[in-house]
Formats: sequence, C-alpha cells, structure tokens
Amino acid sequence: MKGIVLAGGLGTRLYPLTHVTNKHLLPVYDKPMIFYPIQTLVNAGIKDILIITSGPHVGHYLGVLKNGKELGVAHLEYAYQEKPDGGIADALSLARDFAKNDTMAVILGDNTTDADITQDVMSFTKGAKLFLKEVHDPTRYGVAEFDPQDNSQIIGIEEKPKNPKSNYAVTGLYLYDKTVFDRIKTIKPSERGQLEITDVNNEYIKSKELAWAELKGFWSDAGTFKSLFNANQFWALKEEGKI
Ligand code: TTP
Repeated sequence: MKGIVLAGGLGTRLYPLTHVTNKHLLPVYDKPMIFYPIQTLVNAGIKDILIITSGPHVGHYLGVLKNGKELGVAHLEYAYQEKPDGGIADALSLARDFAKNDTMAVILGDNTTDADITQDVMSFTKGAKLFLKEVHDPTRYGVAEFDPQDNSQIIGIEEKPKNPKSNYAVTGLYLYDKTVFDRIKTIKPSERGQLEITDVNNEYIKSKELAWAELKGFWSDAGTFKSLFNANQFWALKEEGKI
C-alpha cells in the first residue's frame, strides 16, 4: 500500500501564522505538524509516501523533510497542487501516477492521531474504508448517516451539516483502491468551489463499496487555533508520559 499526505490548502484560518510558513510545518509540541501523519503511515508499515502540497511556502518542505529517511520513509515524493484550495479530492487526483495500481492510505497533513491502523492496512484489498470518531461538534465535519435498520452501514455522508444525522465525524484518514481516481473525475465542484472528498466517499456508498471503523485513541485536526492548541496539549502530555 502507498501513503499519501495531503498538505495543500491555504490554511487561512491560521493567519497570521500561515503567512510565515505552510500550515503543516507549524509546530505541534516538539515536531512540525506533518511529522505526525507521516509517522501514522510509517507505523502502519507504509514507507512509500507522496506529499501533495501547494501555496507560497512549498520550498520549506524539502528543508524539513529532506528525503524522509529520518522519519523512516524509504521513498518520498512530492507533488504540487496548482489550485491550493481546489479541494481535498483535487489534491488526491494528483496521486494517480504515484499510486499506479496499488491501494493507498490517504491522510490529511493537519490530522494527528495516536491510533494504530496496521491491521486495517493489512486487511484492506478494495473499495474504501473510512475512520470515524464521535465528536461534540459534528457541524464542523463530514458526518455519517447510518442505516436505521443496520447501524453498521453508512448510507450517506453530509459535509458540515446544519442538522447532523449522527455525532460521527469522518476523520482525515482514508483507505482507497485505485478506482478512486475515476470516481474523482465524476464529481463536480461544490458551492465553495472545491472537489469534496465527501462526494467521492458518497460514490463508494452508492456502489456499496464503503467500509468503516471507529478510530481508536486520540484524533484531532490542527487547522484552527483551538484544535492546534488541543493537539499541542495532547502531544505534550503524551511525550511527558502523563497519558
Ligand atoms: P482545510 O483545513 O479544509 O483547508 P485549508 O488547509 O486550506 O485551511 P483553511 O480552511 O483554514 O483555509 O483542509 C484540510 C487539509 O486538507 C489541509 O490540511 C490540507 C488538505 N487540503 C489539500 O491538500 N488541498 C486543498 O485544496 C484543501 C482545501 C485541503
């Protein structure tokens, strides 16, 4: 399985910090943010990794990550998303040549988790698998709707709903087969002008090829001041052995 870290976007919610550098290079306790999603992939045995990035500070990545060896990456590639806010699915579409016919684990560059996804990676063969987490503020996320007859089945995902159908957020960690690229081609930009990963996931629901698991342990994005602070606090306590 290949690993893809999506680290484009503009990070406008973290201005003025993101005037200085790319969001994913900001510190989360003692490391640049992007080290965490890379480590999640490496810990799951994925050592062939593509970083997709964009925006005015892309050059900073090479200086920080170099060839990835310090993080245990065997092979590191970079791709450039021309429209930095084209959407998560737009960024992912750039991974086609890199992934070839392989399956892939995709993670957002501002997501940090201490969950171990090794078993999910080892058993994944086709379709898509999402990792969900129960949250108190579902309106911020893509939210799963479950089949009332069988709540192991997701029947739809709504992006930032006003009236969420559950408290289960879709985290920024996804497993996909190679059909993801053809599915991305079928979707249209949303009202905010982005190719939404939620629309891609709904395509997998339509063809009954979407599985899910609850993400165990800590998970947070770090794209707002509050969530960045939250992630810093968690990783500081974890490093100090207090949790
Ligand atoms: P967002 O936090 O939704 O978008 P953003 O990073 O542009 O931030 P803001 O809303 O504050 O302007 O994106 C989540 C992650 O998805 C982000 O950390 C990187 C990735 N991403 C891309 O790779 N390309 C994109 O076009 C977008 C929108 C996001």
